[in-house]
Amino acid sequence: MPGIDIDKLPTHVAIIMDGNGRWARKRGLERAEGHLVGIESVREIVTITRELNIPYLTLYAFSRENWSRPTNEVKTLLEFLGFYLDNELPMMLEKGIRFHMLGEKRDFPGPLQVKLDEVTARTARNNKLHLNIALSYSGRKEIISAVKRIVEDAKNGTIRKIDERLFGRYLYTKGMPDPDLLIRTSGEMRLSNFLLWQVAYTEIYVTGVLWPDFRRKAYMAALRDYAKRERRFGKVKEG
Ligand code: IPE
Ligand code: IPE
Ligand code: MG
Repeated sequence: MPGIDIDKLPTHVAIIMDGNGRWARKRGLERAEGHLVGIESVREIVTITRELNIPYLTLYAFSRENWSRPTNEVKTLLEFLGFYLDNELPMMLEKGIRFHMLGEKRDFPGPLQVKLDEVTARTARNNKLHLNIALSYSGRKEIISAVKRIVEDAKNGTIRKIDERLFGRYLYTKGMPDPDLLIRTSGEMRLSNFLLWQVAYTEIYVTGVLWPDFRRKAYMAALRDYAKRERRFGKVKEG
């Protein structure tokens, strides 16, 4: 890939894919049109991430709070999710991509749960790229649910010491490294309840580009910016 130092690529990229509604409004279109074109961006970003051999990509597609959007919009988003899973499964199988859902699967209608299980199971042996899609995801709920299960296991005597490593094993991202780079499109400077535990030392990159316009050029700009960052993890600056 021209202009990018392979050694300085992140291992795990997380993206808050925001701005589909604004993209549509600017063009006098329905919000649904923005979501539809947004799927093209997802396709392109997944392809590039795979090409670059970045092993983890986490995409925030639907928050738990997003259930409170108008019924019609929620319906459209669920429909698009179904299409996405159907259309992309062959590509995932061909490219060695493993799909994981981060979030509350039980919040979804039965047929969609079946589809999510199917894509998860059929890609389970792939290991080139872990593609996490956050769906009905809430960072706070993830933490509370971890606490509840830790309390249960502690009562049953299966836990001796509670530390960060153990806690991480009770999260959806169990076994995965924390994100190195968090990208948010459309300019908002907030986390919106995304990966609260996991982003403790993540580098944050916010771009004004709206998600449906976030393609190769914008992604490369984010990766180049990340390559220049100096990560300190609390230590004194080197040199
Ligand atoms: C992101 O775009 C997609 C989802 C949250 C599902 P938005 O729909 O939030 O777009 P804006 O923020 O209204 O522009
Ligand atoms: C965050 O975007 C959630 C997703 C990208 C799925 P929102 O558009 O829901 O976030 P807020 O409401 O602007 O914080
Ligand atoms: Mg938004």
